[in-house]
Amino acid sequence: MYIVTGCAGFIGSHVARRLLDSGEQVLGIDDLDNSSDPRLKRWRLEPLLRNAQFKMFNGDITNISTIHAISKRLTESGVHPDAVLNMAGQSGLRAANGDPHLSVNVNITGTLNMMELCRQHRIKKFVSASSSNVYGNSSIGPADEASPTDEPLSPFAASHKSAELLGHSYHNMHGLDVSMLRFFTVYGPTGRPDMSVLRFARWIANDEPVIVYGDGSQERDFIYVMVRNLIRSNISPFKPMRF
Ligand SMILES: NC(=O)c1ccc[n+]([C@@H]2O[C@H](COP(=O)([O-])OP(=O)(O)OC[C@H]3O[C@@H](n4cnc5c(N)ncnc54)[C@H](O)[C@@H]3O)[C@@H](O)[C@H]2O)c1
Repeated sequence: MYIVTGCAGFIGSHVARRLLDSGEQVLGIDDLDNSSDPRLKRWRLEPLLRNAQFKMFNGDITNISTIHAISKRLTESGVHPDAVLNMAGQSGLRAANGDPHLSVNVNITGTLNMMELCRQHRIKKFVSASSSNVYGNSSIGPADEASPTDEPLSPFAASHKSAELLGHSYHNMHGLDVSMLRFFTVYGPTGRPDMSVLRFARWIANDEPVIVYGDGSQERDFIYVMVRNLIRSNISPFKPMRF
């Protein structure tokens, strides 16, 4: 069994579905807050909830009572999770516009709480979403994991970097096997409408000017979310939605 936080989010919902497609059980956690379009979250959750192997816990991972409730549930069920995949994060407009509390709460306190859950229940593996933002201006590209990450350029980047450091300390003190994934821009089905790929697509579809930052010469790698088992998972292909 796997615990996936942010299971109604773009990346978390894909992670949960891939695990279910592999025959695994998933306990998904999401607070379904309204920082981004709740209809999109419900749409992502719909196919997961149809799968009997998927259980959903509606809760905020920054709130210790959520961790206590999950902990109690694990103890009572006798189920021992193989790993925690921490994909919860703040991506709404307020976070993007620089409200530091949002990203600090979920990326630092939330990540800490989920690692504590691992420690308390002897869960050996912890995978958490970090961000390519941790590189700041240090990496000219192609990005290298060894590039310096000690000059984050925003509270959002600093919070992801802080979570990485907490991960290092939990590995050191408790032997937790930690992987922090420094995602570059992720795109694919059910992707986030606030991100460049869908914004460009929407502008083009609406015959509106495409806003490109910089002088247009910059290059960037994107990460595609694979949907190999689309048919088997019985997810409906993209339904047109208005945002
Ligand atoms: N999508 C990308 O291109 C990208 C790039 C770099 C880093 N990341 C990081 O990956 C993570 C996931 O990104 P995403 O694109 O899937 O975002 P998303 O907004 O689509 O999903 C995040 C999910 O987390 C949930 N959530 C937020 N705060 C929570 C809390 N306190 N408790 C429980 N659930 C909570 C939200 O309700 C949402 O469903 C984030 O940490 C983000 O910073 C994403």
